[in-house]
Amino acid sequence: RLVHHYEQLESTNDTARDLAVQGADHGTVVLADLQHSGRGRRGAVWASAPGEGLLFSLILRPDYSRRYWSRLALAAGLGMVDSLRSAWGIEASIKWPNDVYIQGRKCAGILVESQDGFAVVGIGLNVSSSPEGGDSTSLHEQVGVEVSREEVLVSVLDAVLQESKGCADQFASQVVRMRSYCWLTGKDVSFVSNGEKIHGHVTGIGNEGDLMVRVAGVERSYQQAELIRV
Ligand code: BTN
Repeated sequence: RLVHHYEQLESTNDTARDLAVQGADHGTVVLADLQHSGRGRRGAVWASAPGEGLLFSLILRPDYSRRYWSRLALAAGLGMVDSLRSAWGIEASIKWPNDVYIQGRKCAGILVESQDGFAVVGIGLNVSSSPEGGDSTSLHEQVGVEVSREEVLVSVLDAVLQESKGCADQFASQVVRMRSYCWLTGKDVSFVSNGEKIHGHVTGIGNEGDLMVRVAGVERSYQQAELIRV
């Protein structure tokens, strides 16, 4: 497997996309110690002090239909949560659709971008520290000892690659596992969907990986493309 390691980049997702356009293989990884314009979903910034976070992007060329690719972020989150739990015994959970939470605080985020022929799964994970002022946490803080970024990369990467294979034909069993890790289940949420402000109670994850929310006594389903805010 090829890992391209850079001291600094604008965004590993951009570099991975450029490499993929040039034909880079499935499984190629772009890793950076520092990003100058790390991106999150919906135009958010992903900030990380130099050398403190694990910042990488994984190029995937799934062999199944593109209509299943929208599941990749969920599958990546599942793989991450599983590997954090088994490697460090911490209670990581999925904050639907694609954040990893530990003890109610964000530890990692996932940004999947795709075009014809490939998808780029971008992962930012706070390893040694988390950005100040925000409501986030780091592996160091949760585990109590310093962990090496290499060690985290190896275990997370393996799990994400493995889960990404299953988005077409293993998704039902992936959803079962996601349900047991779903941070939002049982919580009240407020969010905007199609311009409408919604307040509801999360009842779980549906068969399509959608979020099930009880709104004014009626259970409704929301796709991951919709804007969710707790
Ligand atoms: C989110 O929380 O909204 C997703 C954050 C994703 C951040 C990672 S860091 C590595 C990769 N490169 C980027 O520019 N973004 C992702």
